[in-house]
Amino acid sequence: MSGLFAKKDLARLISDANDPNAGEGGQGGTLKRTLGAFNLTTLGIGAIIGAGIFSLTGTAAAYYAGPGIVYSFVIGGILCALAGVCYAEMAAMVPVSGSAYAYSYATMGEFIAWIIGWDLILEYAFGAVTVSVSWSGYFLSMIQKTLGIHLSDGMLRFTEGPWGNLVTLSDGTQVHGVWNIPATFVALLVASILYRGMKESAFVNNLIVIVKVSIVLIFIILGWAVVDHANWIGNPAATGLASLVPPVGPSVRAGKDIISYGWPGVFTGAGVVFFAYIGFDAVSTTAQECKNPTRDLPIGILGSLVVCTILYILMALVLTGVVPYKLLGVSDPVAVGIDKIVALRHWSLGAAKIFTFLVKLGALSGLTSVILVMMMGQTRIFYAMSKDGLLPWFGTTHAKFGTPHRATVVTGVFVAICGGLMPMSLVGELVSIGTLLAFVLVCVGVPILRINNPDVARPFKVPGGTAGAVIIGGLGALACIWVMSNLPKDTWLRLIVWLIIGFFIYFGYGKNHSKLNNGSAA
Ligand code: ALA
Repeated sequence: MSGLFAKKDLARLISDANDPNAGEGGQGGTLKRTLGAFNLTTLGIGAIIGAGIFSLTGTAAAYYAGPGIVYSFVIGGILCALAGVCYAEMAAMVPVSGSAYAYSYATMGEFIAWIIGWDLILEYAFGAVTVSVSWSGYFLSMIQKTLGIHLSDGMLRFTEGPWGNLVTLSDGTQVHGVWNIPATFVALLVASILYRGMKESAFVNNLIVIVKVSIVLIFIILGWAVVDHANWIGNPAATGLASLVPPVGPSVRAGKDIISYGWPGVFTGAGVVFFAYIGFDAVSTTAQECKNPTRDLPIGILGSLVVCTILYILMALVLTGVVPYKLLGVSDPVAVGIDKIVALRHWSLGAAKIFTFLVKLGALSGLTSVILVMMMGQTRIFYAMSKDGLLPWFGTTHAKFGTPHRATVVTGVFVAICGGLMPMSLVGELVSIGTLLAFVLVCVGVPILRINNPDVARPFKVPGGTAGAVIIGGLGALACIWVMSNLPKDTWLRLIVWLIIGFFIYFGYGKNHSKLNNGSAA
C-alpha cells in the first residue's frame, strides 16, 4: 500500500526528468531547450483563444447570463488567476514537462499522480479532439458560405462523424455522417508540425497568434464604435452595473421550460465559458524546453492569462452591445456580430465579404493553434509518465528533432480518429471537468509543499507567505470544485468511467513498472 502513496522528492523529480537515459531500455535523449518568455506567452495565448470565445460566448449569453456574461468572464478570469498563480509557483519550482502530474507526484504520491496524468488526457487529447471538430465546422462554413464552393452529397457525408450532428443533403434529407475528414486532416497536420520540432511549432504558433489576436482586436475596435447601449440593459429596473444582469426568468432556449438569468445564470455562464480559458496551464508542460524556465514559465502562464482575460471581457462587451443577447444562441455568434457590425457601418457588399472572410480565417487559424498546444501538452505528459515507468514506450526523444516523437505519433493518430468519429458535445464538457480536477490538485499542492518543503527555492511565489498560499490555493481549489459541481451528471459519470479505466491500467501496468516503486535509480 505504501508504494501507492510513495512521493518523489523534488530533487529526484527534476533529475529523473532531465536524465537522458531514463527512457525504456536505457534509451531516452533529452528535449531541446529553445523557448523564451515571448514564445511561452504566445503558446499560452495560442492555447487559450479558440472554440470557447468563438462559439460558447453566444449560447452562454443567450441562455444564462444575458449581457451579464461579462461578469461570467470576470469570474472565470478570477478562478483561472487563482489556479494560474499556483501553476506559476509550481512550474518555476519544479520545471519538468510532467506539469500537474509531476507536481502531484511530489505532493500526494504516485497513485494521485497517475490519476492526474490519466485525467490530463481528458484536458489535452480530448481538448484537441473537441477543437478539431469545431475547426471542421468553421472550415466548412468558410468554403461553403464564404467562398461559395459546392460540396456533393457524397463529400458532405465525410464532413461529420457517425455520432456527430446529422448532415443535410441537397434534397433536404438528413443522414448520419461517415467520417469527419477535415477534423482528421487538421489533427494529422498539427501532429506532423509537432513531430518536426518545438522551435518550428512555436514559430507556426506565433504566426497564428498574430493573426487571431489582430482579428479579435479589429472586431473589438470596429464593434465598439457601433455599440447600442440599450443592448447592455438586461434589467431595466436595476441601476448601474447590476443592470447588465437580466432578472431571473424563462430562458430563450426553444421548447424547453428552463428558468435562467439573474446571478445564478451569471455563475452558470462562468462554468460554460471556463472552457474558453483552458490552455494557459499547457505552458507548464514545456518546462524542459525553456531556456530559462524558472523566470519565463510564470511570465508565460500569467502573461497569456492576463492578455486573454482582457480580450475576452472586451469581446463579450462588444458582442452583447452590438447584438441583442437573445439572438446570440447560435454556434457562430461572432459571425452574427460581424454581420451586425457590417450592417450598422453601412459597408459595401465587397468590403463586408472581405471582413467576414478575414474573421473566419482568424477563427480557423486560432483553432489550429489550440489544437497544436493541446497536443503538445499531451505528448509531454505521456513522455514524463513514461520516463517514470508508469507508461511504456513514450519516454524517448527523436535523435535529430529532439521531440517526444513516439508520444507525438500516438497522440496525433488518437486525436485524428476521435475527431473523425465523435461529436463535440460528447467531449467538450469532459475537457472542462478533467481540467478542473487538475487545477484542484495543483491548488492543493502549493500549500502542501509550502508546509512540507519550506526551504526549497521558489523563484515565483503565490503572494502572502504560507498563509497566502493556503488561502489562495484553498480558494482556487474550492472555486474549481464548485464549477465542477455545476457540470451535468452525465459528465461526472464519464469522468468516473474514465478514471476506472485508468485504475485498471495503473494496477495492470504502471504500479509494476514504476521506477520509484521498484527502487530503480532511473
Ligand atoms: N480555450 C480553448 C478554446 O477555447 C480550449 O478553444
